[in-house]
Amino acid sequence: MTEREAEIAIKELRDELDRHNYLYYVKAQPEISDKEYDIMMKRLESLEKEFPQFEDPLSPTRRVGSDLTKGFAQVRHLYPMLSLGNTYSIEEVDDFVGRVRDGLMGQDVTIVGEMKFDGTSISLIYEDGVLVRAVTRGDGEHGDVVTENVKTIKSIPLRLRGEGWPQKFELRGEIVLPWKEFDRLNAERQFQEEPLFANPRNAAAGTLKLLNPAEVARRGLDAYFYYLLGENLPADNHYDNMMAVKSWGFKVSDAMTRLHSREEVDDYINYWDKARKELPVATDGLVFKVNSLRQQLNLGFTSKSPRWAIAYKFQAERALTELKFVSFEVGRMGIVTPVANLEPVLLSGTIVKRASLHNEDIIRKFDIHEHDMLYVEKGGEIIPKIVDVELTQRKENTQPVQFVRFCPSCGTPLVRIEGEASWMCPNKYGCIPQITGRVEHFVGRRMMNIDGIGEETSEALFATGLISDIADLYDLTEEKLLKLEHFGRRSAERIMEGVEASKKVPFERVVYALSIPFVGETVAKKLAKGVRNIDRLMAMSKEELEAIEDIGPRIAESIVEYFAAPVNRTIIERLRAAGVTLSMPDEDPATLSDKLEGKTFVISGVFSKHSRDEYKNLIEKNGGKNAGSISKKTDYVLAGENMGPSKLEKATKLGIPIIDEDKFLAMIE
Ligand code: IVH
Repeated sequence: MTEREAEIAIKELRDELDRHNYLYYVKAQPEISDKEYDIMMKRLESLEKEFPQFEDPLSPTRRVGSDLTKGFAQVRHLYPMLSLGNTYSIEEVDDFVGRVRDGLMGQDVTIVGEMKFDGTSISLIYEDGVLVRAVTRGDGEHGDVVTENVKTIKSIPLRLRGEGWPQKFELRGEIVLPWKEFDRLNAERQFQEEPLFANPRNAAAGTLKLLNPAEVARRGLDAYFYYLLGENLPADNHYDNMMAVKSWGFKVSDAMTRLHSREEVDDYINYWDKARKELPVATDGLVFKVNSLRQQLNLGFTSKSPRWAIAYKFQAERALTELKFVSFEVGRMGIVTPVANLEPVLLSGTIVKRASLHNEDIIRKFDIHEHDMLYVEKGGEIIPKIVDVELTQRKENTQPVQFVRFCPSCGTPLVRIEGEASWMCPNKYGCIPQITGRVEHFVGRRMMNIDGIGEETSEALFATGLISDIADLYDLTEEKLLKLEHFGRRSAERIMEGVEASKKVPFERVVYALSIPFVGETVAKKLAKGVRNIDRLMAMSKEELEAIEDIGPRIAESIVEYFAAPVNRTIIERLRAAGVTLSMPDEDPATLSDKLEGKTFVISGVFSKHSRDEYKNLIEKNGGKNAGSISKKTDYVLAGENMGPSKLEKATKLGIPIIDEDKFLAMIE
């Protein structure tokens, strides 16, 4: 393929993929199968790799999210991000409409009704039809620049569709985590015994602030837009502007409607109070805005919020029900969680029988007694939570609920985790739910990926004595498995195939699979990269571990403790004997090339593909030198986002070329 042909093919693929992203993520009307989409994406990836001269930071291939970014830069908002006055009563919304009419001396007023999305607000800046910056609300005056993370949200156009957009504008909206993704994420976290997100709002906000855009991409954020700012806007009213925004490729809620009287406003509220439950994303109310921009200007702002808008908040649904008993459940790490088992009650369309009480402090806070009547709420939350106790209905002679002091599974005295409200069963190697929990974790899809061993099978394997730790998996045979009840040849074969294939799983996933307390997926990756093999990991002191990026004292201590236990050392030796991968592949030679021979670099700003240290390393490995400050001897400045202004000025004055990370990576390609 000639360079010219490649250029054309790349352009065509990018346009097509942009179009299919829009059809799939914004319109929800895909025209091609996922497989066809993947094939096109792979083709584009390989062409971009072969012809790096046509690189483009807005290419659809960039939406997968790159490596770590180092913190976020802060910027001042062009227009402050205010909040909205809010109310829970329809009458007050009616009063608002009346106030607006009075304020406008009885002019005709059209009100736009729209959803209040329950996520985290975002401000996008577009210039010449291209996304240049995404900023969080922050304190309303200044926010964090989260462009790299926002670029992974596929329903946000990196390049606008349609026509008629101003040269520069700001678009405000809400980043949300759809219910489906929220449930998936929490199920995953529950399995890994990581703290659950209380609601999609917290999950969206937390996700947006992750320092790892690749992880952000995986979580499935979405975004809806509700306010356009700037000069030369397409229309003189909010509604038409939002329709224009929609035509440029953004998601704007279909619920957005023009309303002309109080009656229409009231009907709108009554309709959406119910209908919102069918929406794929969490909403916590409605927003009413004066449509005409001229009228908005006339009404102006109070110090905190616009006088031309009001939020009507939905009442969170709660129900009153009796506590039958509190059960205590033990997880893989031994943490004991109290669960309120309730008299079944209908709440927001589902029957609630259980609600987590999280930890002992919550039981104390509400002073819950046996058989109390409890208020259960499901607001923006999917996991019902206990929000209060109805003391007037407390039964006589009932005792306060006591947190267990002994493990409900094995009877061992519990220990309280220092600095936390949780209790833990220390009998790591004798307590059944901990053992089977670790086996289930080990075989999980993101760990060793051994298919066919769920909760039931792992319990059966334990009960029959076939498995008492993760290394026993490698002593299984088809014959042994066939002795299990209800176990067919095909299931046995499938497990054995999975066990065999798991030996090739990369070291970083093995580290994660071991269930070392506090070592989650991201930490495991860092460890594996930092130590390269299990022998070094087992031999490292707390201080040495803490020298690895992002490994703090608590994690370091937990790793040292894990490998100090003889049982764990034996397990590692048995995994080694079975042929499990316990080191990173040999790479990382001392030098990669001499392409940068004799060149001196100064690094400045925040990067998205590699960390600064990684860039320094790459410079040296390719024969170049790093310097701390710009001088006549500097050959290049490698600049990320938000390069320091003094450096920029100096480099410009000395005529030193400023290159971005993509240019740099192309240089050493
Ligand atoms: S309008 C000046 N419209 O609610 C305009 N806000 O309490 C102010 N929100 O921070 C925002 N859906 O994050 C507006 N349809 C909507 C909204 C909405 C959700 C959020 C937004 C804002 C907060 C205000």
